[in-house]
Amino acid sequence: MIIRKSQAEIEGMARAGDIVADTLAMIGEELRPGVSMLELDRLAEDYIRERGGVPTSKGYRGYPAALCISPNAMIVHGIPTNYIAAAGDIVSIDLGVTLDGLIADSAYTFGVGEIFPEAQRLLDVCQEALAAGIEQARIGNHVSDISHTIQTVVEAAGFSVVRSLVGHGVGRAYHEDPQIPNFGAPGRGPELLPGMTLAIEPMITAGGPDVVMHADEWSISSADGSLTAHFEHTVAVTEEGPKVLTAAKRPVEAGLLP
Ligand code: MF3
Ligand code: CO
Repeated sequence: MIIRKSQAEIEGMARAGDIVADTLAMIGEELRPGVSMLELDRLAEDYIRERGGVPTSKGYRGYPAALCISPNAMIVHGIPTNYIAAAGDIVSIDLGVTLDGLIADSAYTFGVGEIFPEAQRLLDVCQEALAAGIEQARIGNHVSDISHTIQTVVEAAGFSVVRSLVGHGVGRAYHEDPQIPNFGAPGRGPELLPGMTLAIEPMITAGGPDVVMHADEWSISSADGSLTAHFEHTVAVTEEGPKVLTAAKRPVEAGLLP
């Protein structure tokens, strides 16, 4: 069952989303060569709590941290470790924030220092795929219009979408219906209606679509060791079109979050 949110709930999710966006911007500035992943997680958790929020991931099904930090070939759900960021890494940071019982969820993949042009292209394509997917989050479209658009952008660039990981509804719970795959034929799945709130999240690789889970039973990497990227926004379907609830207000790196 897809939970449609009231205007007040969407506004509450946007307040949670502001904390998510500001946390990502802060972590993007701290993510320099030499910083450890554990340090980033501590900074994020302190910041979220100072803002009155709760890190949604921490304790979710036993997950031990505020952030998912997934470097290079790791695509999602990386548990922060003592790994030290090095120039040339690309690092995905994914987090949820709960504020007054409402949740927003977003992810951004950062380059550390100077990165290879092909890594930059992977990030650009993933971000472009997310923006194109968000554009499809319109009343009267179907869930798979988002999926199909993301797949088209990613595969046109010669990259792969992961099939076994999906976007999702979000808001009152971290993971609500519907599932939002990043591939598929258009025009399928539930029709999009006002008040639906969706976490749209292309997860892509520079190689093949297969992934493997690590022994920690959380972290997931590309099976072929290729670089991966993950961008995510929480989006409300409204009469005025898609409304991004996790949009950044401050510059991140050279660009702006969409
Ligand atoms: N934020 C992730 C998502 O995009 C969920 C992470 S679950 C966790 O859906 F427990 F690993 F944090
Ligand atoms: Co998500």
